[in-house]
Amino acid sequence: MISGSGSNMVALAESMAGDHPARPVLVLSNVPDAGGLAKAEALGIATAVVDHRAFKGDRPGFEAALTAALEAAAPDVICLAGFMRILTRRFTGRWAGRVLNIHPSLLPKYPGLHTHARALDAGDAEAGCSVHEVTEDLDGGPVLGQARVPVLPGDTPDSLAARVLVEEHKLYPAVLRRFVAGDRTPVLLG
Ligand code: GAR
Repeated sequence: MISGSGSNMVALAESMAGDHPARPVLVLSNVPDAGGLAKAEALGIATAVVDHRAFKGDRPGFEAALTAALEAAAPDVICLAGFMRILTRRFTGRWAGRVLNIHPSLLPKYPGLHTHARALDAGDAEAGCSVHEVTEDLDGGPVLGQARVPVLPGDTPDSLAARVLVEEHKLYPAVLRRFVAGDRTPVLLG
């Protein structure tokens, strides 16, 4: 599930080849013109859109539409990959134990938004990303992997985000591969 450029989605999709036990069945976006949709189509993956703006003030309706789109594809595992809407218990309960997310901080530090700016403001010496199981607690489910990068002198939120994103593209496929094999041992990179 994506909302944006879908670079993590591409990393996941490209990893699912050869002896990998999983294959992508659907890329679902809540943003009709998300860049990741064209990338998914180029990879030959089915796509669907559930535009949250059609459900203004109706989060249950939005989540029911997401679930209906997913049920049509019958996924065993759902990867949030830059999906930028908060999901409530209605959704997370329906798919419990099967939803992963990648978050651009070393959780439990900096759940929510503006993670890189917050790490810089705090004077942190390192930053990174986490893959975690999605529960009803925002960015709060069990951590299944982390990758660390140094914070360098002169870093800006953008430069730090770019350095972390390189690691996201390694971490998320590594965690997914382990997860679909039934192994929840955390993947630790960097
Ligand atoms: C990634 O950095 C991901 O960690 C972040 O959005 C970016 C999506 O990039 N996710 C969140 O902030 C979730 N709250 P992508 O669309 O190129 O994969």
